[in-house]
Amino acid sequence: MKKWTKILIAIIIILAIIQIPVFTPKKNYATTPPAKDIATAYNVPMNVLMNLNNSCYDCHSNYTQNYYWYYHVQPVSWWMNLHIKEAKENVNFSEFADYTPKQAAHKFNEIQEQMDKKKMPLKSYLLMHGKAKMTDQDYKNVADWARQMQDSIIAKHPEIANSK
Ligand code: HEC
Repeated sequence: MKKWTKILIAIIIILAIIQIPVFTPKKNYATTPPAKDIATAYNVPMNVLMNLNNSCYDCHSNYTQNYYWYYHVQPVSWWMNLHIKEAKENVNFSEFADYTPKQAAHKFNEIQEQMDKKKMPLKSYLLMHGKAKMTDQDYKNVADWARQMQDSIIAKHPEIANSK
């Protein structure tokens, strides 16, 4: 056998082995009630909440609603799982009520920045999730709301602004 044939066969074998379901990461499906969801602690207008649900919660919450068939194909699933893990480390809307006022103000600031620059949702995600696309007005609504939330936290906790 030629060397490249052996390499090709090895790659095929590895790809076949990693398809065994034990290598599929556990799904991001929380079964507990969303007691610490952002809407339990902060005022989230319905239109903003819908935007967050449709465009952010698949990665930034404890419940990913839209898993497609390719989540069972490794290594795609590993790549998706890593995105969800990283996203939740940055901002987890399901646990937002747990953030201290200082942390929350900082998160709102980051959300506003991401919306101003239209950097979220990730482009690779939008390719497959047409429903998550946001209009210019959506980006503006979420950015304006995030700015108001920062202002109201700082109004209640002026020490945050001073410690920045
Ligand atoms: C497909 C998954 C995915 C979706 C959907 C998504 N995000 Fe993210 N988000 C990520 C990942 C991964 C990171 C961390 C890595 C990075 O910064 O690119 C992140 C980071 C962030 C950060 C922190 C950025 C920083 O570093 O300052 C904010 C804020 C954020 N996302 C907001 C949002 C908002 C708001 C939405 C919805 C409008 C959204 N994201 C939708 C995956 C996603």
